[in-house]
Amino acid sequence: MGGVFGNKWSPDSMMWLTFASVFALWAITVSSANLVSEREFSNYKHGRRKLDDIGGSISIDCGILDDYKYTDDKTEIEYISDKDFIDSGENRNISSKFNHETLQKYLWNVRSFPQGNRSCYTIRPHEGKDTTYFIRATFMYGNYDEQDKLPEFDLYNGVNIWDKVKFDNESHIVIKEIIHFSLMDHINVCLLNTGSGTPFISALELRHFHNSSYRIPPTKSLVLYRRFDVGSTTGQVIRYKDDAYDRMWFPYNFLQSIPFDTSSAVDSVNHSEYKLPSMVMNTAVRPMNNDSLDFEVDTNDPTLEFYIYLHFAELEIIQENEQREFNISLNGNSWKESVVPLYLSSTTINSSTPVRGPKLKFSIYKTENSTLPPILNAMEVYIFKDFLQAPTDQEDVNAIMDIKVSNGVTKIWQGDPCLPRPAWDGLNCKDNGYEPPIIISLNLGSSGLTGKISPSMARFKSLEYLDLSNNSLTGPLPEFLSQMPKLTTLNLSGNKLSGSVPSALLERSNNGFLSLSVDGNPDLCVMAPCKKEKKNFVVPLIAAIVSALVVLTMLVVCWRCKRKQAAKQLPSTHQGGRPLKSDNRQFTYSEVVSITNNFQKIVGKGGFGTVYLGCLSDGMQVAVKMLSPSSTDGSTQFLTEAQLLMRVHHRNLTSFVGYCNEGTNFGIIYEYMAYGNLEEHLSDKTRDALSWKERLQIAVDAAQGLEYLHHGCKPPIIHRDVKTANILVNEKLQAKIADFGFSKFFTEGQSHLSTAIVGTMGYLDPEYYTSNRLTERSDVYSFGIVLLELITGKRAIIKSHNKDNTNIVDWVSPLLARGDIRNIIDPRMPGNFDTNSVWKAIETAIACVPLISIQRPSMNHVVIELKECLEIEKAHEQDCGPMTKSFNDTFEVNPLGLEMDMVPQAR
Ligand SMILES: *[C@@H]1O[C@H](CO)[C@@H](O)[C@H](O)[C@H]1NC(C)=O
Ligand SMILES: *[C@@H]1O[C@H](CO)[C@@H](O)[C@H](O)[C@H]1NC(C)=O
Ligand SMILES: *[C@@H]1O[C@H](CO)[C@@H](O)[C@H](O)[C@H]1NC(C)=O
Ligand SMILES: *[C@@H]1O[C@H](CO)[C@@H](O)[C@H](O)[C@H]1NC(C)=O
Ligand SMILES: *[C@@H]1O[C@H](CO)[C@@H](O)[C@H](O)[C@H]1NC(C)=O
Ligand SMILES: *[C@@H]1O[C@H](CO)[C@@H](O)[C@H](O)[C@H]1NC(C)=O
Repeated sequence: MGGVFGNKWSPDSMMWLTFASVFALWAITVSSANLVSEREFSNYKHGRRKLDDIGGSISIDCGILDDYKYTDDKTEIEYISDKDFIDSGENRNISSKFNHETLQKYLWNVRSFPQGNRSCYTIRPHEGKDTTYFIRATFMYGNYDEQDKLPEFDLYNGVNIWDKVKFDNESHIVIKEIIHFSLMDHINVCLLNTGSGTPFISALELRHFHNSSYRIPPTKSLVLYRRFDVGSTTGQVIRYKDDAYDRMWFPYNFLQSIPFDTSSAVDSVNHSEYKLPSMVMNTAVRPMNNDSLDFEVDTNDPTLEFYIYLHFAELEIIQENEQREFNISLNGNSWKESVVPLYLSSTTINSSTPVRGPKLKFSIYKTENSTLPPILNAMEVYIFKDFLQAPTDQEDVNAIMDIKVSNGVTKIWQGDPCLPRPAWDGLNCKDNGYEPPIIISLNLGSSGLTGKISPSMARFKSLEYLDLSNNSLTGPLPEFLSQMPKLTTLNLSGNKLSGSVPSALLERSNNGFLSLSVDGNPDLCVMAPCKKEKKNFVVPLIAAIVSALVVLTMLVVCWRCKRKQAAKQLPSTHQGGRPLKSDNRQFTYSEVVSITNNFQKIVGKGGFGTVYLGCLSDGMQVAVKMLSPSSTDGSTQFLTEAQLLMRVHHRNLTSFVGYCNEGTNFGIIYEYMAYGNLEEHLSDKTRDALSWKERLQIAVDAAQGLEYLHHGCKPPIIHRDVKTANILVNEKLQAKIADFGFSKFFTEGQSHLSTAIVGTMGYLDPEYYTSNRLTERSDVYSFGIVLLELITGKRAIIKSHNKDNTNIVDWVSPLLARGDIRNIIDPRMPGNFDTNSVWKAIETAIACVPLISIQRPSMNHVVIELKECLEIEKAHEQDCGPMTKSFNDTFEVNPLGLEMDMVPQAR
């Protein structure tokens, strides 16, 4: 720092500017007394802009009477009341002690917010979104509440903190300015009570910026730190109408500098994109020593990032033999070289990247050939703020706004529903501080709600808790309530709802997915057919009643499995001669006893009951699964399975014949699969081993069954217990998926379900196991294990005497890495098969079992691949006849191709 003059801002030069102030780090602080003489500006005629330049601007004098508006006689800005921008708070006048007639009118009164933690103004400028706005909030306490206690609170721009508001004294005017690129068509300015006094505001002004100046990336904002009219001769703050954008320029002079000015207008012909006021630009300073202007700005925080704009204009006519040229350095680094200001035309030097440091040290020094000293006309320093917090999910916002209106919510709900915390009264949100928050709970009990349950409720994708109890809601219970994927608590008690409770809702309640309360709605009937005298009751109901109910309701619910698929795949072999009407599916207990010949032959045993062989009067063999009376836990599984079987129809899913529900006797009757399950087939050494083609046919069948559950049903169904024991085979070696006791309905649009882990060791998707996140890809994993068992003849967990048990994937992988296909294939499998087909099947199986679920293919893909395997094998059979090939001749060793492909490639 070579200058002989002080290289710090002089604290004396302008009394009303406070710099090292511990309070107002980000604020320009102005005491009221010093703005008095601003009025004199109205005489100044230079370089005036037209009013249109800030067309669309909104100037709000907070706290004036509702329909009052006035034009400020000095600036000619029209101020309006805040009644259209906020619906809470109280109008208060500042103490007469501070209200003198030279004080700007918008400071005479405030709006104060003793109620609620968060108060938000919502401004909807007609320029809309995707443009840059300049927002200024002004605060002067003036002892409006006669407490003589300076409050402190937070100021938010939307959901992001803008600044803290603190006061030095009762007449201290705090001005906060921000330049903000808005991605939304409305702007929220919020005051947050931080427990240090009641928030209030004096004025709020919004200006629209030309889009080419102060170019900032979306989500970023510039918070004003300093804005100086350097070399001011009047000592006045300059704003509109001198400044077309209504920026406020504060006069400033350096100690060891010489101010100079011109009476000519700057930028009178062309103005730069910054539209700098002539009044600011036609004053400047030059250094006393003629060499360099050195000054520094304390930032007080080395972590902050600053954007700097220095504005220059030549004010003197430069003679032929003279030159004014200078370089600028910042914190010792060269920032800009060879700046030559243009005569009466402004040039702005701005930082292209943000600058940091505890101090910003500027040196503007003349170049070697320059005969004239450097100058400076004006400067702006902004804090660069990254507004990372996204507002609440837009769909949730739309939904809650609609509910607010349609159900007459009278709560003070302003700004964003979730942020800044606390969320709106009655709401709970989930947010990670970065992604858009989502609404997960809505407690509107005893809130005087009226009207019908709003269809907008259906738009909440993540709502878990909904309490609408003790209101005056009317109309029916909408069906969509049962479709809300995450909903676990629904309290509708104490309303005037009518009609009946949707069956799907009762099912969810019965299945333990939902805690449902509907009591205290005199006109609402809970069971179909509706009877007026039905007593109100609270769900969850005891299992027996509900099971009966569910069975009843299931019969009327239309399960929307894809039509064409159903048409294509029906009728199943066993249903052909037996049209199953819903009403003849119910069997009495005595019928079951007779069908099973008094439970004579057991054909299987599951966790929740025993499976008996039965024979219908028409001679059709059936399997009758009876819930063991001791198994109370099993009832849910039984119900799930019954519901599912009734609704899904596919030739690769076991078909439903009927059910029995009498007292404590609950049973499901379905087609009998004579050849038992695949597990027995593969492990039973006394049977003939399945050929490769048979195995492939079984694999294709099972895959099609799963594909149908995942992609053919709405909502999709996840089986959750895919294993060889649950794949049944009939006498034609046609395979069907069985046992839906653990299956889950999966609502569309949902990425996953969080559920308790069920499944079978060895088949269980490791990702589901560790994360509880269930997707249909968990079934794909299990199916991959089934495929590996089909290929290898091994069990999912390979037991060994001397070593730990090995998972089949871990057993296959090293063999595969070596290309040792021969040792992978089930040694019992008859040798005549196409090796390409086996290769492809192994690839398909391996593709199903990555640890990360998204790397697994969908069942659609798996079916396509397996069908190709089958085609290859069939072609081979025709070509070669029953002949055994040598492995060595045909296997290519290509372990690399196996590992990486997400979806198996055709070989
Ligand atoms: C109030 O605070 C401001 C800013 O710190 C200061 O400039 C002004 O002199 C103070 N006024 C009084 C009356 O103390
Ligand atoms: C504020 O003062 C104005 C007159 O200047 C008066 O009309 C108004 O009622 C006052 N408001 C309050 C809340 O006292
Ligand atoms: C500024 O806005 C105009 C139209 O309003 C548009 O044509 C122009 O591309 C915009 N410029 C920038 C830099 O966004
Ligand atoms: C600075 O330049 C002016 C003329 O432009 C001259 O009168 C003055 O003496 C110079 N001051 C110094 C310290 O060199
Ligand atoms: C200064 O002027 C001389 C002669 O006009 C020229 O040769 C030289 O390059 C100039 N230096 C700079 C830094 O511009
Ligand atoms: C129901 O709401 C009213 C106000 O809407 C309240 O006064 C009453 O205490 C509430 N009753 C219950 C049981 O919550």
